[in-house]
Amino acid sequence: MLSEAFVLELHKRLFGSVWKWAGTFRRTEKNIGVDPIQVAIQLRQLLDDAKYWVEHGTYSPKELAARFHHKLVFIHPFPNGNGRHARIMADAVLTKLLNEPAIDWAGGYRLEAMNKRRDQYIAALRAADGHDISDLLEFVGA
Ligand SMILES: Nc1ncnc2c1ncn2[C@@H]1O[C@H](COP(=O)(O)OP(=O)(O)OP(=O)(O)O)[C@@H](O)[C@H]1O
Ligand SMILES: [Mg+2]
Repeated sequence: MLSEAFVLELHKRLFGSVWKWAGTFRRTEKNIGVDPIQVAIQLRQLLDDAKYWVEHGTYSPKELAARFHHKLVFIHPFPNGNGRHARIMADAVLTKLLNEPAIDWAGGYRLEAMNKRRDQYIAALRAADGHDISDLLEFVGA
């Protein structure tokens, strides 16, 4: 599951009927995300890190999932669908690799809509961009 092939396949299965480019990496700059030429390299690094974290119990399961989710959306591998894809990836790691329950991302709200939960989510990701993970840990209930 912690492989480039799985990451691409999940995006393709989620969005393949909507976008013909689903399951292929971003090739243009966006205001969020690393330089497109860095996407595959940084994703490889993240997947290697995540494998190490899982094998060595570096973090609690929820903290691992939160850190993994943030890094994945920070890389922003795809032109669109990054948030939804990376939330499902984090839940897949929790439920399939760690035998833990999934994160309650929406917390009773509609996370895709504009509301207070969505604002907290984006603010917590921004804080994590600045290397403060604490709000995101609180958000996921770690
Ligand atoms: N400052 C930030 N740092 C890291 N990630 C961010 C930041 N701001 C937003 N994001 C992530 O980018 C996502 C939006 O990117 P994109 O439109 O590709 O994904 P999406 O799945 O279409 O979004 P949505 O969450 O609206 O379903 C957000 O859901 C969030 O996960
Ligand atoms: Mg979008």
